[in-house]
Amino acid sequence: MYKIVLEAHSGIAYLALIALFITVINAFLGLSSKRTFKSSDRKIGLFALIFTHIQLLAGLILYSVSQTGFSMLTSGNAMGNADMRLTALEHPLINIIAVVLITIGWSKHKKQIADQGKFKSFAIFYTLGLLLILSRIPWGTWIG
Ligand code: HEM
Repeated sequence: MYKIVLEAHSGIAYLALIALFITVINAFLGLSSKRTFKSSDRKIGLFALIFTHIQLLAGLILYSVSQTGFSMLTSGNAMGNADMRLTALEHPLINIIAVVLITIGWSKHKKQIADQGKFKSFAIFYTLGLLLILSRIPWGTWIG
């Protein structure tokens, strides 16, 4: 169970990050060129939203089964060690905030009537979400 969810969480991370990067770059390009917001712009944002939500779900399952997740937090040893604190507290907490921001960006873009307003919602909220996610990825265990 642990291995399957870890593999999924590790693999979907690529898809979520790529989709977020594309949405953010596309939103800034849309803003600077002042072009029309098309159905493809909406789809890119939707893919990023779906991948981050799947990632959140996999992360929550992982957190309950991994030795470096909730059990580490309750063991009382996590706070003194930077690596342990990252997976037991900072990574989950910051990423939940990031997913909330991305979800707010998605719902705000839907309420906007002007094309530039739609791009702006993605540019602000998806960028904040992406930066938060990037700031708390356990790079050493993932890529290293
Ligand atoms: C939504 C954005 C998220 C991204 C992009 C992300 C990405 C990653 C990556 C790349 C790893 C390293 C995987 C590996 O070592 O192969 C990881 C580990 C982990 N993630 Fe996430 N994660 C996200 C959200 C979450 C959330 C919300 C939670 C918990 C509520 C969570 C819990 C964990 C745990 C516990 C580990 C360590 C697993 C272990 O080494 O046993 N993640 N995450």
